Amino acid sequence: METPVLKCGNLVLGELDPVLRAVRDTGPVARVRTPAGDDAWLVTRLAELRQLLLDPRLGKTHPDPAARPRYVRTPMFDLAVSGAEPAAARERHGDIRAALVPHFTGRKMRRLAGRVAVLVDEQIDEVLAAGPPADLHNDFSLPLSFRVLCDLVGVPDSGGFLALLLGAGEVDAEHTAAAALDELYAYLRRLAAGKRVSPGDDLASTLCEVIPDDDDVAGLLALASFSFLVTPSNLSAGIALLAGHPGERDRVRADPRLLDTAVEEVLRVGRVAESCVPRYAAEDIAVAGVVIRAGDLVLCDHYSTGFDDRVFPDPERFDVGRRPNPHPAFSYGLSHCIGAPLARVELRAAYAALLRRMPDLRLTVPFGEIPMLGGEQGDQVGGSIARLPMTW
Ligand code: HEM
Repeated sequence: METPVLKCGNLVLGELDPVLRAVRDTGPVARVRTPAGDDAWLVTRLAELRQLLLDPRLGKTHPDPAARPRYVRTPMFDLAVSGAEPAAARERHGDIRAALVPHFTGRKMRRLAGRVAVLVDEQIDEVLAAGPPADLHNDFSLPLSFRVLCDLVGVPDSGGFLALLLGAGEVDAEHTAAAALDELYAYLRRLAAGKRVSPGDDLASTLCEVIPDDDDVAGLLALASFSFLVTPSNLSAGIALLAGHPGERDRVRADPRLLDTAVEEVLRVGRVAESCVPRYAAEDIAVAGVVIRAGDLVLCDHYSTGFDDRVFPDPERFDVGRRPNPHPAFSYGLSHCIGAPLARVELRAAYAALLRRMPDLRLTVPFGEIPMLGGEQGDQVGGSIARLPMTW
């Protein structure tokens, strides 16, 4: 069999892509060619994904970063990979997490949950005032998620910040993406300097209290902001899934206690791209009958592993009551998503309010024809819904 080529986006929402299914049939850890044209291993089964992400021999370092195999051509991923010694890199990663984690727990989450509910209602007010039809991705999910991000980080101007973030995440536009990344860092350094003089109740200010260097604060804020970028896509995917499965939508509307399991189900299948986090083997690793060689690229796919039929019965069924649902959306171990509680709060608040305030919300295009990013639309790391045409 010829090595399958990953395409990074344009998958059918809620279904396992046929190319990825064929790759999975060749094994839990299978050979693929990346969108950047390099050879890699794709992890296609949940057990192996978890095992490898918890394995300290797999990390974000490569002995020769310039010559390493690449997943997609974007400077955003280049930032994450260093030539450092693996143990030192893990220690630094642990330090970064230690600086961020306190801002996503307890009192801060409760304060943010209140703010998120207000922002959700304001965003729906705007959509209702403009009247149907609407593009709920660009008129709801994207602006809402960025308002939440700005509130979290402590950024006053969401427009300029959003343009820099999206610019830095573009695929196959390395020159402009690198320029946007430089500008983003300069922006975040200026933000940090300002917070030292006039602090607020936000992530930038609290990081400034414990980290003396503005460059380091900017790096952490960039990491949190890039990580945040997946939220609007997931949010829109969930709106589309609920609208495209009226029976499931009506189950949640009839019993709002199902909102929590519905959010988990959206997190499991609400992807429109392979969702790969690139890692490199520091040593040879024998797993699932293959040997990953030191220096090899390993793509830990959080998309196809959500459809693993060894774990999820009838995996392509969108079931708002699915239990148990041990999906991999937020990853594992040292990679586990720090913003998971915030993402859950935002998705839950948005679906609750939309079901309540826009009960007749429906797609104006067939479910399988929702426009995705890619091709002429340009591409983003992790892909996304491009437009979500809806009426009510
Ligand atoms: C539905 C929305 C989200 C999903 C599916 C998601 C998923 C993920 C995944 C898979 C990772 C691991 C990435 C890697 O290993 O390279 C990650 C990391 C991370 N996420 Fe999220 N995320 C979401 C929302 C958020 C939000 C709202 C924030 C808040 C700022 C956030 C902050 C982070 C951070 C800081 C990391 C880096 C953790 C580390 O490297 O130690 N995420 N996320």
